Amino acid sequence: MTWQRRSFLLSSVSALACPNILRARPLFRFPDYPFRLGVASGDPSPDGVVLWTRLIPSPFDEFYGMKNEAVEVEWQIASDEAMTKIIAAGSQLAEPVKAHSVHVEVFGLRPHTFYWYRFRVGSEISPKGRTRTLPLPEMSVDTVRLGVVSCQKYEDGFFTGFRHLADEDMDLILHLGDYIYEKGGKFNKPRTHRGKTCRTIEDYRNRYTQYKMDDDLQAAHASHPWAVSFDDHEFVNDYAGADEGNGDPQDKLTARRSAAYQAYYEHMPLRRFCIPVRHSMRLYRRFRFGNLLSVNVLDTRQYRTEQPCYNGKQTARCEEVFNKEATILGKNQERWLFKNLTEDKVRWNAIAQQVIVAPRQLRENMYSMDKWDGYEVARQRLFHTLRVGKVLNPIILSGDNHRHSAADINMRPGDPDTPVLASEFIGGSITSRGDGFSMTEYGQRILNLNPHFKYFCDQRGYMRCIITAKKWQTDYRIMDYVERAGSPIETRVSYAIEHGHAGLTKL
Ligand SMILES: [Fe+2]
Repeated sequence: MTWQRRSFLLSSVSALACPNILRARPLFRFPDYPFRLGVASGDPSPDGVVLWTRLIPSPFDEFYGMKNEAVEVEWQIASDEAMTKIIAAGSQLAEPVKAHSVHVEVFGLRPHTFYWYRFRVGSEISPKGRTRTLPLPEMSVDTVRLGVVSCQKYEDGFFTGFRHLADEDMDLILHLGDYIYEKGGKFNKPRTHRGKTCRTIEDYRNRYTQYKMDDDLQAAHASHPWAVSFDDHEFVNDYAGADEGNGDPQDKLTARRSAAYQAYYEHMPLRRFCIPVRHSMRLYRRFRFGNLLSVNVLDTRQYRTEQPCYNGKQTARCEEVFNKEATILGKNQERWLFKNLTEDKVRWNAIAQQVIVAPRQLRENMYSMDKWDGYEVARQRLFHTLRVGKVLNPIILSGDNHRHSAADINMRPGDPDTPVLASEFIGGSITSRGDGFSMTEYGQRILNLNPHFKYFCDQRGYMRCIITAKKWQTDYRIMDYVERAGSPIETRVSYAIEHGHAGLTKL
């Protein structure tokens, strides 16, 4: 069945094609085009993927132009861009309790294959998206290309990076957190957050709506499947575990956190097992690319114990840093990760997560306690697993820091004269911190104090990882400016790790 845009409601011809929809209820007439936030796909498997959209004809009205009732949304997935070869189709209810979002889990697709998809309600047809399934675990795969993004503070600039990302050839985009920022609008910024600091479900929904109205972000979602994980700003700055981060009474906090997680789920292409249950949701999961690569996506926010000796900035390390009971992953996630790392028989073992893992002095013996530097025993457990489990080619991908960096993690952490255990690629931000500079006094200090840090750049962009059996290459894709739209992008520098030779090499 080919869909064509029509200006009237379902005709009798399509009534025969979709009898269930017509039986359900008369079609709701939207005040405006309902697919204003575009489409997305995510969490691919070898035989399927999640397709996402949300009906929102009037994004800034109280009820978004929707009635308090469910609406049936049809979907189609095809093996060609013109969508003439429909492989699967169906319908799903968009319900008001989920802000009229839909998350379709498609099964029965072919491994490592491109697909195109779209949605329809009545005469309204969504933009088209492209997605790709994963290879089968036993498949031999030549090349995998990953995009790694994080930190897209809307206020700080334009999402030009996403426009460039949309034009790339990628197997999967990893979003490592700070998809939104929770604070209220300020003046004198390149763009302005609508509304006050997010506290209620409506606040968070409105914030995602504003971000997702951005054409460049929509283009990046429509071009590739994504695998997302959140950091702190999807809820509140620097929170830990059940902690609120800002001194709200606990009961108010749990309601706020439930609202934040609910809105996150509603706007991301996530599977059913990620549906939040009150103030918790399962986000850690694994993506396997044949015999070449395993990507373990972590959640370092939800299960961590409180940051030790925490003052919000940098501090000397107090005794609490070495507390054996302290954790950044929580017991279950840690056990799950260590099992994957030691059991996956793949060439490259990637750990995609939020905060910097490598030891990093900000000033002499001063550290940030929000990173793995605050959780020394947990970090040692990870390093022990990499070493004793003989994990092949471990690569860490991190977000959060807003500056592009690359670091080696040595057997004796921080001592570059000992063998390299793993390498870490730290992504800059899409917009957070604005235009920035390629080098700063802060950056120079990081490089001087931490010889295992090889690169620093305080400008905006993303990482492009090109992975083959022989080599892992990360290209730092960087823009000159984001405070105005339209910056070109360039590969400023590339670092690589060759199979069999641990440690970063500048290309
Ligand atoms: Fe951020």
